[in-house]
Amino acid sequence: MLLPLLFLAATMPATIDDESKVPPYTLPDPLVDNAGNKVVDAKQWRESRRPEVMKLVEENIYGRTPDTRARQQAAVSEVVETDAQALGGKATRTQLKVWPIGKSGPAFDLLLYVPNGAKGPVPAFLGLNFGGNHTTVEDKAVLLPSTWVSKQWAAADGSNRATEKGRGTQASRWQVETLVARGFALATVYCGDFEPDFPEGWKQGFRAALSPEGANTAWKDGDWAGIGAWAWGLSRSLDALAKVPAVDAKRVAVIGHSRLGKASLWAGAQDERFALVISNESGCGGAALGKRIFGETVGVIAGAYPGRGFPHWFTARYSRFAEKEHLMPLDQHHLLALVAPRPLYVASAVEDRWADPKGEFLGALAADPVFRLLGQPGLGADVYPAVGQRVGKSIGYHVRAGKHDVTLEDWQAYLDFADRVMPAK
Ligand code: GCU
Repeated sequence: MLLPLLFLAATMPATIDDESKVPPYTLPDPLVDNAGNKVVDAKQWRESRRPEVMKLVEENIYGRTPDTRARQQAAVSEVVETDAQALGGKATRTQLKVWPIGKSGPAFDLLLYVPNGAKGPVPAFLGLNFGGNHTTVEDKAVLLPSTWVSKQWAAADGSNRATEKGRGTQASRWQVETLVARGFALATVYCGDFEPDFPEGWKQGFRAALSPEGANTAWKDGDWAGIGAWAWGLSRSLDALAKVPAVDAKRVAVIGHSRLGKASLWAGAQDERFALVISNESGCGGAALGKRIFGETVGVIAGAYPGRGFPHWFTARYSRFAEKEHLMPLDQHHLLALVAPRPLYVASAVEDRWADPKGEFLGALAADPVFRLLGQPGLGADVYPAVGQRVGKSIGYHVRAGKHDVTLEDWQAYLDFADRVMPAK
């Protein structure tokens, strides 16, 4: 009997891609506390409900980030390379090597472009990249990562080493010239410097380095996972940026695309130093509601079906909600609400149906009451906007034409929003 049962358990339901087939669902209200009481003011949110929501998100989705403050006291940051005439003289490029828990632990490489000629410290965008810092710009001086990179960026010899062939291949996703021209700095770090993105990748990253059992750690339910490690890395990158006099650490936006958008949301939720939090097409396990069954589902992403999904991104309990999303005591709007009252931007692409564009909008909409309770204008819209139309006041949203990507159109929206909430001049 065991075999047929296993087979049944492993049959993946057809992906829903048709709005009329979305089953009904009910969302828990983030403004009702665990005891069932309505949260009525900012003080109550701040002092009791926000910590409850944080715990719900930790326990059920990403796991708890360990308190590493003692280890961080040994942090060291060194300038490896700098050029005040980068990008044709428009910016100063600096490459830092940072050992966030001291030189006995691993390091990460931070690439930074700061516009030249600014009158004082400038605001910045900080985000992780998928393939190495050298993929984010055409600039020949950007160093290759020495850590594991996935096949698509790696040498043909199967060694998972980065090579020149990746240089500039992601440049359209970063738009550094545009950022610099508008007075913003850009900082980026390769996500694999914190944790290579494969099931055993943690053994080569900071989760192992920070665990007393190192690469032998047996992760328990509630422990952090890959997204948690990346989010931690974003905070350590902000620590390093905060020591750069040309950057104003009080005006740093955290941004991420797709899986790295999930990480940017979790970083922004936990680390209130981020002045603006941006999710570019973060989808399932990011801004998109999980109880709304459309595109990728909790079951698929959390690894309930053989050969599918990314269980190493999440804490174990998340997979228990596979095909049982209705049992989740929270949804992704709880995560988005943790950003409040700080500004949030959620963006989708209309052809990115796997990420459920409308579910991303509805996630932002369901978080909106928390922003408003905290005195912010929030989304200011309750109707899914037309393609290409921007909505929102302190929660921005747009769904642009096209595929799963980060484009100039997305950046223009983020920069216009940033001009309002963390202006360059
Ligand atoms: C896969 C995954 C998504 C993720 C995406 C990405 O498609 O299913 O959840 O966002 O990869 O990171 O590009």
